[in-house]
Amino acid sequence: MPKHIVITGASRGIGYAIADILAQGDHKLTLIASKLTSFHDKHPSIGYFAADFSSFDSIDIVSDQIISQLEHVDVLINNIGMYTGKTLADTEKEDIQHQMNVNFCGPAYFTHRMLPLLRKGTHPQIINISSIAAKTALPGVSAYAASKAAVTGFSNSLRAELNPEGIRVSVLHLSGVNTWNDHNTQSLLAPDDIAKTIQFMVNADSRYLIDDMTIRAV
Ligand SMILES: NC(=O)c1ccc[n+]([C@@H]2O[C@H](COP(=O)([O-])OP(=O)(O)OC[C@H]3O[C@@H](n4cnc5c(N)ncnc54)[C@H](OP(=O)(O)O)[C@@H]3O)[C@@H](O)[C@H]2O)c1
Repeated sequence: MPKHIVITGASRGIGYAIADILAQGDHKLTLIASKLTSFHDKHPSIGYFAADFSSFDSIDIVSDQIISQLEHVDVLINNIGMYTGKTLADTEKEDIQHQMNVNFCGPAYFTHRMLPLLRKGTHPQIINISSIAAKTALPGVSAYAASKAAVTGFSNSLRAELNPEGIRVSVLHLSGVNTWNDHNTQSLLAPDDIAKTIQFMVNADSRYLIDDMTIRAV
């Protein structure tokens, strides 16, 4: 059954791969990136939007635009994120704030704004992209790990809040995904692997809830 699916961070990397695979179904896609020019080869049946997810004002503007164009949302995929691989000693105060804003505060507020549309959806789903850094002690990523731990805690509490009204909330913890053309691909997942997992989740029977999944390369 075709679904209305909103994907953030969809111009490149994992978000692009998710949009690409879901576009092969009959789904109606709404894609967001930081700038409209980040999208290449635009398809006429896809909705493209831009917002700076470090700014609540920008999220308000894009949310109003989406609400004016869509009657409902069936699936929200909160994929937007940014990564700063730095030890805390090398992390400036602006970096700490920016990572928390882009990775957690922005997606949490966007989810809040999309809730009225999700409540009108059919078997609605929210799929949040977190990282194994939220669960595993990795050096050199302390601020990033904290922002992703916020995504994980947010997702698990939100699931308990929204399950009673039939909205499913999933969180995926990913190890390294090759979004930067690394040639040492053995230790990395491919964006397509994540996209296929999400394709399964979107098309799975509505009685299924994948609450918390970790995907890593072995
Ligand atoms: N790659 C990995 O190894 C890995 C591992 C674990 C988890 N993850 C998570 O997976 C998700 C996707 O990662 P990725 O590697 O595919 O990222 P990516 O290739 O860097 O792409 C990031 C996407 O987010 C958008 N974006 C970034 N900052 C934004 C902002 N301030 N406002 C609006 N849009 C913004 C970008 O839009 P523009 O193109 O317009 O900049 C782009 O579409 C993230 O949540 C990341 O933390 C990634």
